[in-house]
Amino acid sequence: MTAPSVPKHIAIVMDGNGRWASKRFLPRIAGHKQGVDVLKRTARACAQRGVEVLTVFAFSSENWRRPAEEVSALMDILVVALSREVNQLKKEGVKLQFIGAREGLSERVRKSLQDAEAETAHNDSLTLNVCFNYGGRWDVVHAAQALAATGEAITEESLSRKLSTFTSGDPDLIIRTGGEMRLSNFLLWQAAYSELYFSATLWPEFGEADLDAAIQAYASRERRFGMTSEQLPQSGSAA
Ligand code: FPP
Repeated sequence: MTAPSVPKHIAIVMDGNGRWASKRFLPRIAGHKQGVDVLKRTARACAQRGVEVLTVFAFSSENWRRPAEEVSALMDILVVALSREVNQLKKEGVKLQFIGAREGLSERVRKSLQDAEAETAHNDSLTLNVCFNYGGRWDVVHAAQALAATGEAITEESLSRKLSTFTSGDPDLIIRTGGEMRLSNFLLWQAAYSELYFSATLWPEFGEADLDAAIQAYASRERRFGMTSEQLPQSGSAA
């Protein structure tokens, strides 16, 4: 049985902003700015196609190692993008959620995330999870610490319930743009049965045709979740 034609939950590693900018003799940050526009268009395109959740990797726990001016520009881009876009996102029914360690972020950034979440909390056309100061290992450790604090038995189910993405479920499809073929500490636990799709397109050039190619590749995959083909139901979702 093949996967349903549209994944409910898509996750994206938005890679290639720096290379896109370098090719144009622009500062790297110009690539990130273009990346915000592409994210907006991709979110809209996902909602139009019936995707329920889009989770994107905007700033990893490791991105602090970048030059200080790039880190600070990424923080500014986030705050500015939220102040400019929240009203439109609200109109379009997008619910924004930020995933990652808030402790490491400045008060100004934390406030901007909180406000955007509060403003869009009741929306339900698409949930957009923005992973910011996020790492897959952080997520698992954080979940294990939360469980240990309650004294609850550690099982796959109990640990899953403490992960930052619990309410969104695991991604059906993970797309990485920019030609690299690795997860880079993104959704490590949640990716256990995700279909992976690698695109050579740099994120600032990722368009609807690229999204459709990824969705089409997903639809042709057989998701067996450890079973044999013969054991799968003949129709409907194997998920
Ligand atoms: C990876 O490209 C991209 C990032 C580290 C940042 C992703 C951020 C955006 C797309 C902007 C949207 C985010 C916000 C703030 C909502 P890279 O810089 O590693 O590119 P390279 O591999 O070509 O150098």
